[in-house]
Amino acid sequence: MQDKVLIVDDDPGIRNTISELVGELGYESETAADGLDAIAMLDSGPYLCVFTDIMMPNMTGLELIQKIKAREISLPIIVITGYASLEIAIDAMKYGASDFISKPFKVKQIELLLNKVKREKSLLEENKRFSDTLHLHRLIDNLVGQLEDKKEEIISLQAISGKIVSLKGIRDLVGAIIDVSKQLMDDAEVEFFPVSRKTNTLIDTKGDKEIPLDPGLLSGSIVRKQNDGPSLINKFETIFPLTIEGQVFGALDIRSETILDDDKEGKIQYLLDRCAERMENVALYEGLYENMLSTLNSMAKILDARDPHTSQHSTRVTMLSAAMGNALGLNEDERDVLYIAASLHDIGKVGIPDNILLKPQGLTEEEFAIIKKHPDIGADILKQIPPMARESEIIRHHHEHYNGKGYPSGLKAGDIPYLSRIISLADAFDAMTSDRPYRKGMSVEMAIEEIQRCKGIQFDPDLSDIFIQRIARL
Ligand SMILES: [Fe+2]
Repeated sequence: MQDKVLIVDDDPGIRNTISELVGELGYESETAADGLDAIAMLDSGPYLCVFTDIMMPNMTGLELIQKIKAREISLPIIVITGYASLEIAIDAMKYGASDFISKPFKVKQIELLLNKVKREKSLLEENKRFSDTLHLHRLIDNLVGQLEDKKEEIISLQAISGKIVSLKGIRDLVGAIIDVSKQLMDDAEVEFFPVSRKTNTLIDTKGDKEIPLDPGLLSGSIVRKQNDGPSLINKFETIFPLTIEGQVFGALDIRSETILDDDKEGKIQYLLDRCAERMENVALYEGLYENMLSTLNSMAKILDARDPHTSQHSTRVTMLSAAMGNALGLNEDERDVLYIAASLHDIGKVGIPDNILLKPQGLTEEEFAIIKKHPDIGADILKQIPPMARESEIIRHHHEHYNGKGYPSGLKAGDIPYLSRIISLADAFDAMTSDRPYRKGMSVEMAIEEIQRCKGIQFDPDLSDIFIQRIARL
């Protein structure tokens, strides 16, 4: 069956053009003249995706996006814009549109868009398939009881839950491999060694020494050995490779008193295969996550390009924030979140018109009110990406003041997210010390005095002390 797309536009010319172009690419299409018709047609799907105009009679494109998302959250929506408008793009993104297409429509552009839609769809289906396999093999999964406990976590992986869960996921899966193997092998000694890609050796995480990798293992086969030693009880050693996407990722080493029979070997192999599948799945989503991140980073670059005077600002704020993260001894997870939030903290300025954003000074009250929307705009953009939920909230509050007089929410002291308080310091310090067209930047010493003065007013007092002592003069 051919994939079918739905094209919604009140202009018959545009409907026909897109319909012809998708036809050339081998897709079927159906058209609707407005949102109400489109909603009625959703039942005659399934559609691969929907193309929709924004300005239409009866129901706007934004309303249509909301309605479609309420019915079928995973149906991709591509917005047709007469001209590439940033404001419309951002609005549509907030409501869940996945892409945009603007005039003149080109067949290549549509081909790329549809390829992307199909790629993302097959990722989702792949994911579903894993959960079906999981169901089929429930029998063994019951046997390996502890793996059941991890199921929740694996399901959450399927919801594109990104780097944090996935990193934890890999570590926990390794833990599960060991636990389950121990259960299956009774009294055997079980150890898991990661493989160093650089040196092709096994890494002994306890002793920190490198163990040469058996060539058999490297080619993906099980290695069986018999070790001798007068007091050695577990004489038989069986080493299973854990292969992910064709590369040996680790080795599970089992030492037992008797040789492993085929049944036990088979079960361990099954366990490792399932774990490898899940890890591949994680890796797929990490790829997807990186894609989203690179889109956001290019948005940040566009922003920098609009305002040459602050072009290095985001980079410096990121460096200062990261240095604070180190000084404060934040864990790896928090440092990652801080890094991303700092580098994208002003991303919401993409939604501020040039005549206000680039105005050298003397903003009117109304203009300042518009600038003050950028933390919310930025947070709303990031909120669309599930793994960015924490970064989104941190960005939302990077202009709060410790005394509650900041924006957008007027949060006070400990109610302001901790990482937002760090970015706020780095942001203000960099703004004070950089040159602007209408003024020269302050010296570091003057900026330090200013932070001293605003301790407890604008800035977190403890963080201010640490910033002054350890970061400001770096
Ligand atoms: Fe900002």
